Amino acid sequence: MKKILISTGGGDCPGLNAVIRGIYKRAKQEKGWEVYGSIEALSGIMRDPPEVVKLTRSKTAGIHVRGGTILKTTNKGNPLMYPVKDEQGQIIFHDITDRVAARIRELGFDAVINIGGDGSQKISEALHRHGIPIIGVPKTIDNDLRGTDMTFGFQTAVQIATDSFDKLVTTAESHHRVMIMEVMGRDAGWIALHTAIAGGAEICLIPEIPYDVHKVLKRISDRYEKGRGFINIVIAEGAKAKDGTLTFSAGEEGSEHVRLGGVAFELARQLKAIGCKQEIRETVLGHVQRGGTPVAFDRVLATLFGVKAFELVLEGAFGRMVSFQNNTIVSVELAEATQSYNHVDPEGFLVRAAKGMGVSFGD
Ligand code: F6P
Repeated sequence: MKKILISTGGGDCPGLNAVIRGIYKRAKQEKGWEVYGSIEALSGIMRDPPEVVKLTRSKTAGIHVRGGTILKTTNKGNPLMYPVKDEQGQIIFHDITDRVAARIRELGFDAVINIGGDGSQKISEALHRHGIPIIGVPKTIDNDLRGTDMTFGFQTAVQIATDSFDKLVTTAESHHRVMIMEVMGRDAGWIALHTAIAGGAEICLIPEIPYDVHKVLKRISDRYEKGRGFINIVIAEGAKAKDGTLTFSAGEEGSEHVRLGGVAFELARQLKAIGCKQEIRETVLGHVQRGGTPVAFDRVLATLFGVKAFELVLEGAFGRMVSFQNNTIVSVELAEATQSYNHVDPEGFLVRAAKGMGVSFGD
């Protein structure tokens, strides 16, 4: 029997289980493959004894409908930047991918499918350089991965954000308020931009277009003067004012990332500071955007990714990431996919269309 290992890494994301099921079901069409999952990303295989689960029909049946991941996940303990305390108790980061590669070999896996975002795919790429037969599957609600037109999870996040936006419009209208809704996305404004278009926001603030708070206030004042006594703003968590800084809470121990969040409150503070007279309320959507059942599009995309990932294993086409491009499923080199990020183009058709609809980006 040949053994394949699946890992889900980084933040959870609607569609992870659909990928796992896709891989399992496709593998079972072939004779001679056993499918395993590492618990909590690749941390599972590094434990003693290893925390690895053998996937079965009953463990994977119907899981495409469920959010989260049956294999659990973590965004800590990245083997490329593994946190270790030095003698002074300071955290320093080490690259331990050689140890992970050695462990994969020791456990006798013939192939690995690593499902995750940019961080996880950099790990896939490093493991491939260490000779591990690995395939990447791009996941993230942020949609910020290069090499694919879309990641699964993104459409679900946009749907949840749009539903929430619609609910906030009623309060904005009834109370003549400025409602600011903050969405996730890290350094990419995809969720904010799609939600603003889908929901009909008047203002959309994204990391790719630093905003001028005076222009934001002008848009608000103009609208109130015209007698339209309310306004709905979508702001991406990574947005910042021109000459401003990111809004975040302190970095977490063992994590190389700072945690973003709170820019909706920062924008409200900035608007008040320059004389905004309107009543403002802030909503930070947070993790509801990653929760619950994936929308049908994400289930389909995740399933297609799972099937394709296993077929790449059969072909021996390792070091590649499955990808959705021009309405079909292809694959790209991991090295290419992890070179840079996928950001909103400030001059692109989406931003131009939104501006054509009267949406202000505060620029
Ligand atoms: O990358 C997905 C994401 O949800 C980002 O949009 C967000 O900034 C981050 O993860 C939150 O991470 P955590 O769940 O660790 O707080």
